[in-house]
Amino acid sequence: MKIFGFWLKLFGIIGFSLFHIAVFSQDELITNIPSRNTYSLDGQWQYIVDPYETGIYDYRHKELSQNDPQAYWNPDTAQNKSDRKEYGYSDKYVLKVPGDWNSQLPEFLYYEGTLWYKKSFDYHKSKNANRIFLYFGAVNYRADVYLNGSKLGIHIGGFTPFNFEVPDSLLKEKGNFLVIRVDNKRSAEGVPTLNTDWWNYGGITRSVKLIELPAAAIRDYFIQLKSKSETKGEVEGWVKLDSVISGDKLRIEIPALRINKIFPETGKIVAVHFMLPPFRPWSPENPVCYQVVISNGADRIEEKIGFRTIETRGREILLNGKPVFLRGVCIHEEIPQQGRRAFSPQDAMQLLGWARELGCNMVRLAHYPHDESMTRLADSLGIMVWSEIPVYWTIDFSSAAVLENAEKQLNEMITRDHNRASIMIWSVGNETPVSQTRTHFMKTLVDSAKIMDPTRLLTAALEVNLHANQQTRMVDDPLGEYLDLIAFNEYLGWYGGTPASCRTANWETKYNKPFFISETGAGALGGFHADSLTIWSEEYQEWYFREQVSMFKRMPAGFSGVSPWILADFRSPRRNNPVYQEGWNRKGLIDQQGGKKKAFFVLKQYYSEIILTPSTLR
Ligand code: GCU
Repeated sequence: MKIFGFWLKLFGIIGFSLFHIAVFSQDELITNIPSRNTYSLDGQWQYIVDPYETGIYDYRHKELSQNDPQAYWNPDTAQNKSDRKEYGYSDKYVLKVPGDWNSQLPEFLYYEGTLWYKKSFDYHKSKNANRIFLYFGAVNYRADVYLNGSKLGIHIGGFTPFNFEVPDSLLKEKGNFLVIRVDNKRSAEGVPTLNTDWWNYGGITRSVKLIELPAAAIRDYFIQLKSKSETKGEVEGWVKLDSVISGDKLRIEIPALRINKIFPETGKIVAVHFMLPPFRPWSPENPVCYQVVISNGADRIEEKIGFRTIETRGREILLNGKPVFLRGVCIHEEIPQQGRRAFSPQDAMQLLGWARELGCNMVRLAHYPHDESMTRLADSLGIMVWSEIPVYWTIDFSSAAVLENAEKQLNEMITRDHNRASIMIWSVGNETPVSQTRTHFMKTLVDSAKIMDPTRLLTAALEVNLHANQQTRMVDDPLGEYLDLIAFNEYLGWYGGTPASCRTANWETKYNKPFFISETGAGALGGFHADSLTIWSEEYQEWYFREQVSMFKRMPAGFSGVSPWILADFRSPRRNNPVYQEGWNRKGLIDQQGGKKKAFFVLKQYYSEIILTPSTLR
């Protein structure tokens, strides 16, 4: 029966992947880029800012034809002295890639619209390269990709990777002309939609690379401990090949565990199933990652995989079979000192380094998938991760197209990171308003995620109904029925009541599942000091956290952790107090200059107590 269940799951994965490709006519995501043969296209790109989209529409707003000489994806050089060119790319106008445009030029701080990027490059194909792909770590929000005047494809969604195959006939040895139209306009049918509490950073915000693959490339793989396995060390997964060489064998090696397994290539998806010998499980205390080598006759991939299990039992979260309390913090993908999107390993080190200083063993990467350097660094630092798609607030839950978009972003988030030991939780959204349509929409996402990855916990950050006069706050969102972890955002003492309201507040959930406070926080302008009743002072925020921590200490059984909002101040167009905010959300425990506010130390003290006396678990 068990093996039948395995094949059923496998066909579910295949079906879901094929659906994804068919519907989105996009190349299947290539994973583990660090292990591939790549050619970086990062650096300076020329740009044309185009708020009226002249580069794609004529004066009657009719779309220009593919070969129209006025289209901004076509070569911009005049053919002769009377050739009228009313656009052009120049080194006078350049932007750094990766990077948002808002933080690179003052005139772009609030820019929302179309901007054209152009990169010229020469390229010599390596001898054993068979197929060439263009890979983007992320582009916010829509990317139209053109190479040498031909359109390769479109990607929608600002925080997940994508790749397009480059036909051999298109690439030249000299002077390739790569143009990306980036459009970061918000829209009612977007994911996220018009309204967010973060800055709409536009641009090619993560790295761009050419990837060379052999014909029978290893496209993707999933090598994880089987969930709910009766036997310790049971690995169950698959390897996805671009093509099968007849008689070829797939090999999986884990040298440190003396594993060297061969699997017949029965098709483009090869099921893998084997037992590990005694191994050291990954955990925050011991983030052991093993070198795993996957190879076939044509390709060889090296990956670092930490083996561990995450599950729930009643109201407990179990990591490697033992109860765990998540000492978390929420993080936006932003470097506060420069007010810009984070994208590099150095940026990841700064943000996760701060989380470690706080005493965290977990981070909630809000409200969208962060750069891969964050999840890879979390693997090696031993920090558990909650990763989330930007189904945020009030998107259009009635639209099939919006659901497709959300599913695609979910697919890309899980595909990129499904071998990361640190990722324990997939979240399908944040503070979505309760309705039947919304709950059906979110359940669809939960079901899809479970097919793609049955090994991790599913959740969403729910909103509790805060009735100021109520002593007991009940978390009874119907979506909780379908989640493994009941997570909710509460701001008792900031949005309603005062921090003293925490003293008489009681919390309950109607579900016999672990529950988690996914946001709680108060604003303070770093360096502004007054008495604790003065809002915006560091002392008010400090008082808020003291009262919250006292409330945490008397939470009912099942309280499994908290990720306060938020590690650091971040830009938001919704925050316009001219003295205390000036376009910044000030709920950071760390201020815009990177200084730690007094509340940082209240939370740090709470976490250090938990570390010293794990038995109390909170
Ligand atoms: C909400 C939301 C956050 C927002 C925060 C706030 O809970 O999830 O994205 O920034 O509250 O109001 O600061």
